[in-house]
Amino acid sequence: MENISVDISKVFGCVPKTSIEGIQNLVKEKNLALENKSGKGNDFLGWVNLPSSFSDKDIKEIKAVAERLASKTDVIVVIGIGGSYLGTRAVSEALSHSFQTLKSKQKHPLIVYAGQNIGEDYLNELMEILHEVMYGIIVISKSGTTTEPAIAFRILKNHLEKKVGKKDAKDLIIAITDARKGALRTMADNENYMTYVIPDDIGGRYSVLTPVGLVPLAAGGVDIMVLMEGARSMEMITKSDAPFNENPAALYAAARYSLYQAGKKVEILANFDNKLHFIAEWWKQLYGESEGKEGKGIFPASVDLTADLHSMGQYIQEGERILMETILSVKETHTRLTIPKDGDNLDGLNFLAGKRLDEVNKMAELGTQLAHVDGGVPNIRITLPRLNEYYLGQLIYFFEKACGISGYLLGVNPFNQPGVEAYKKNMFALLEKPGFEEETRKIKARL
Ligand code: PA5
Repeated sequence: MENISVDISKVFGCVPKTSIEGIQNLVKEKNLALENKSGKGNDFLGWVNLPSSFSDKDIKEIKAVAERLASKTDVIVVIGIGGSYLGTRAVSEALSHSFQTLKSKQKHPLIVYAGQNIGEDYLNELMEILHEVMYGIIVISKSGTTTEPAIAFRILKNHLEKKVGKKDAKDLIIAITDARKGALRTMADNENYMTYVIPDDIGGRYSVLTPVGLVPLAAGGVDIMVLMEGARSMEMITKSDAPFNENPAALYAAARYSLYQAGKKVEILANFDNKLHFIAEWWKQLYGESEGKEGKGIFPASVDLTADLHSMGQYIQEGERILMETILSVKETHTRLTIPKDGDNLDGLNFLAGKRLDEVNKMAELGTQLAHVDGGVPNIRITLPRLNEYYLGQLIYFFEKACGISGYLLGVNPFNQPGVEAYKKNMFALLEKPGFEEETRKIKARL
């Protein structure tokens, strides 16, 4: 069985191989600190052994409940923000037909999202559609108090109750939240919703392999058993006792940390397959929230290629030399398409006739990689053999493990997010939330 792999050879022009290999013991030490829970934020390390500790029985049970909701609905609204929705969207969109919404027959309910913005038109337009279909809600919030999903849930719960009646609405709602605390827990207990618990020791951005991701993904038809199998295999492959050169998480963490030390402050995650767009969104939260603190951290950015070569390509090639790039490469496509020969050849493309489109895409990828390396943008390549549940499970765990190691290499706590509170304090003060009177007075004086 193939695994996802990491190639760091295209960073050696910027940081010598010897200096990356020179930190392998340090990397191993940080990896071990994650495994034996001896580092910063060690009360949030439940994700480290999660794949191997999650039983097949638990997965089957989640699948059964999710399928029950799916059988009653055409659309499922996943309400959540940050770690409570990005993992689901990342996996779901990576595995979905690119034109899913236009397909006339849907085998599984369509998954749509709410609670990750406060746009009035967005919710109104969503409700306009929901009015016409049978729908369910999976509401996810670890704290149970996050404003954006709480507002969306209040509005959609009200909509659903009006549409099908309060009693039937209960059977169409699943809440995923803390075992004991938070408004969502209280509401779910009072209303008798089906609930799942987000373990205390797993933070939002590391939670996609808990019910947070598994329930909505199973409802949308993703094979969560295979997803978890992939994650389990990567848990083994990335253990601290694995040889450095065979441990993709160690290689990735060591390379990006060495590049950061060499002045590369921005990492661009580039894909050549649009289905990976939300993998990059999930990755940005994972790395940005885990590393960006105490005035330190690599800024995570992303591009969809080749599209963004026609917009961001110029900067990447010739702008400030603070960039590193990581390419997410998928070895095999699901389908084949060959470029036809054209009698007139007015576009001059007959030299491509008979070639598969993926061959052109792969040459664009290789050409881009070499051009960027030549332009002073060191490159890491992560290769997925195929885009399926197994390799996405591997990819998720690989990124999580490498992120934990990376945070420890930087010397920060990768499992907190104190900076997220600042905007909330201002928003509540501006909205005159009870208890924020002093902040309201101060912020109004600034306006
Ligand atoms: O990584 C995190 O913990 C955060 O980004 C959360 O996922 C996000 O703020 C949502 O929080 P909650 O699930 O408590 O609503």
